[in-house]
Amino acid sequence: MLRVKPNVIVAGAHGLLGYNLVVQLKENFDVIALDIAIKDELCVEGVDYLPADITSQKEMTELVKKHHPRYIFNAAAYTNVDGAETERELCWKINVEGVASLAHAARVYGSRLVHVSTDYIFDGDHGPYRESNRPDPLGYYGKSKLAGENALMSSGANWAIGRTMVLYGYAPGARLNFITWMVEQLRQSKPIRIVDDQFGNPTLASDLASALIKLAVSSREEIYHLCGSEIIDRYHLALLVADVYGLDSSLITRIKTSDLGQAAKRPLNSGFIIEKAEKELGVEMLDARGGIEQLKLEIEKAQS
Ligand SMILES: NC(=O)c1ccc[n+]([C@@H]2O[C@H](COP(=O)([O-])OP(=O)(O)OC[C@H]3O[C@@H](n4cnc5c(N)ncnc54)[C@H](OP(=O)(O)O)[C@@H]3O)[C@@H](O)[C@H]2O)c1
Repeated sequence: MLRVKPNVIVAGAHGLLGYNLVVQLKENFDVIALDIAIKDELCVEGVDYLPADITSQKEMTELVKKHHPRYIFNAAAYTNVDGAETERELCWKINVEGVASLAHAARVYGSRLVHVSTDYIFDGDHGPYRESNRPDPLGYYGKSKLAGENALMSSGANWAIGRTMVLYGYAPGARLNFITWMVEQLRQSKPIRIVDDQFGNPTLASDLASALIKLAVSSREEIYHLCGSEIIDRYHLALLVADVYGLDSSLITRIKTSDLGQAAKRPLNSGFIIEKAEKELGVEMLDARGGIEQLKLEIEKAQS
């Protein structure tokens, strides 16, 4: 007998997280994958892709009405932390109004909306943080992500939020992330300068995708910190990358965040405590070395 799979919508399906969600969800769901523009070369086989803008309440409502997804995963976002300082309107539109329009559609048609947020909602003075700690974002990106969380929680939709940080992983065509950029530079024997005063939990996108699916299925209307299990500074993370990939660590110089002159301030002493997710959702997140080794395998598999 043919088994009918429930529908799910993934918004931001061409992004790093979105791609990993689509790959994992397609096993048990009929996935409708949305992104602002669809690029054929980035599409996963057997999945329906549609161009759609999450900031259009009309578009989102029509899509949800048509497909009646059990879950909607929102991996779409404005993610340029420095760009957000000047492109404020666009950042707010996507990170706040986009969430609100998805939440509206989810509420009207009874879907559960699983949304993704960030450690940038904290100031990084007193990390690592629990879900119950008070947010105090330093920059506009963090402010917009916090407002997005609040828009969802007050929407009346069935909701869940997974906060993550320092996301890396494999997705065809996705922008370089911290780890893939380092590997590329070191492979070309280019020296790199890496900060040793920014602490956080590096998170493999495929690991986060599995945790978010567990969160969706759990039916809990709560915020969870979902990230790698280990807190590490970026310089020591770079040394680990060089070690796992067998690259020359003498090319890595340690510097301070203030040396970079970035437009947006970063939360320095960040990091998440993930005990709540481990206990209540049963997630087991990879540590830094485990995640980098897993990424290496994922890239080798994709290229074989
Ligand atoms: N990356 C990190 O280190 C990090 C850390 C903490 C939290 N997060 C959160 O994790 C989530 C996923 O991040 P990510 O790194 O996977 O993001 P990403 O790679 O930048 O992917 C986001 C995707 O959303 C698309 N998008 C942008 N605006 C859209 C719109 N209006 N309608 C539909 N799609 C739209 C983007 O298209 P374009 O590329 O064409 O704009 C892109 O394909 C986000 O909520 C982010 O805030 C990320």
